[in-house]
Amino acid sequence: MPNWFTTRTDEELATAAHRLFVETFAEDEAGAAAPEPVGVWAAPGRVNLIGEHIDYAGGASIPFALEQNTAVAVRPRTDGAIRIASEFDGSVAQACVPLSSVWPRHPADWSGYVAGTIWAAVEADLLQCDGLDIAIVSDVPVGSGLSSSAALECSIAVAAYELDHGHLPDDAARAGLVEACIRAENEVVGASTGGLDQNASLFGQRGKALFLDFATGAVERIPFDIASQDLVLLIADTNAPHTLSDGQYASRRGIIDDVQSAAGCTIRDIPDAVDFAATVAEKSSDSAELYQRRVRHVVEETERTLSAASVLCASDMDTFRQLMRDSHVSLRDLYEVTTPELDSAFNAAGEFGARMTGGGFGGAVIALIAKDDVDATAQAIEEAAAQQGFPAPTFVVARPGEGARRLH
Ligand code: GLA
Repeated sequence: MPNWFTTRTDEELATAAHRLFVETFAEDEAGAAAPEPVGVWAAPGRVNLIGEHIDYAGGASIPFALEQNTAVAVRPRTDGAIRIASEFDGSVAQACVPLSSVWPRHPADWSGYVAGTIWAAVEADLLQCDGLDIAIVSDVPVGSGLSSSAALECSIAVAAYELDHGHLPDDAARAGLVEACIRAENEVVGASTGGLDQNASLFGQRGKALFLDFATGAVERIPFDIASQDLVLLIADTNAPHTLSDGQYASRRGIIDDVQSAAGCTIRDIPDAVDFAATVAEKSSDSAELYQRRVRHVVEETERTLSAASVLCASDMDTFRQLMRDSHVSLRDLYEVTTPELDSAFNAAGEFGARMTGGGFGGAVIALIAKDDVDATAQAIEEAAAQQGFPAPTFVVARPGEGARRLH
């Protein structure tokens, strides 16, 4: 029998974060009873429908915010310290980071997502902060390619913003917070990721997908009404662990950055980018063929995503599903970011309308399938994994949820 994720309601998540806050910070340093959190904020993970590994190349993506969230119960401090308690895997991890000790690559562990976001937002003059007590609980699976790190950054960003300004950020302020979250991840934690995840988590809207154009910075909320066509989006987390702070993601991005810096523009604006990549490769230790393969993925995935946006608006889901399939094949053969577990789930889901989602090297596969096929597809993916000795996957049916917000 396939395993399914359990997801808490907003109310349950807010209660859990509140409880963790009170249990952790029940007394201040002098032993006196400390006040309750001022509020609880949340931000979702995301699933990307198409447009993979092109956010750092002037491409485009169509993600949506998940109904799985990270919630943070927060209270301001006045001594410049960020005290954090985070519930993870049945235990609670704690950290205390003085804001004055946040700088590139410090702290580079999980607390860097939290302290780094506040540091970057303060540095960008988006908000002021003299310290926070923070309790974190999350339903976003970690290491599944569903952006648990962006959910964490963005929940902290909206909380710190509202605590300083007295209201939630509007879209213009959200765009600034996206940049702060990216900076935290790139500079403090040291993961060289693009802006897909943070845009999805901060701009998501219930019932809507997002069209993100990284060449112009445009964020468009577009309809994603698959229910009226009796379709659902099934996520299969392969439970093969993935991390983006290791060298694999950076090596893919390194080649793209190399080509872009030689051209002085993004891949999207380079005429004959694949040929151009070969000339750039001559100055590196990698082969021209490798550079061309990587750049070909970026060029074709960008074209696919632009087509996908049009066919989605026309509700042509058959073409959309074909594009999803082609995207996986390109990520497998040209960009080489899939794993045997991801390919197994892709094959077992019937390929059409399926693809890996997120950074790859582990994580999840999505399948846009008929509502009535959910159980059979999950079963097929699970059986294929078992036959090859892979971990049992975990499943969830994904629907577009609300972006970063206040819960309580
Ligand atoms: C990760 C990164 C994103 C993006 C995707 C691949 O999720 O955080 O910026 O590059 O991988 O599309």
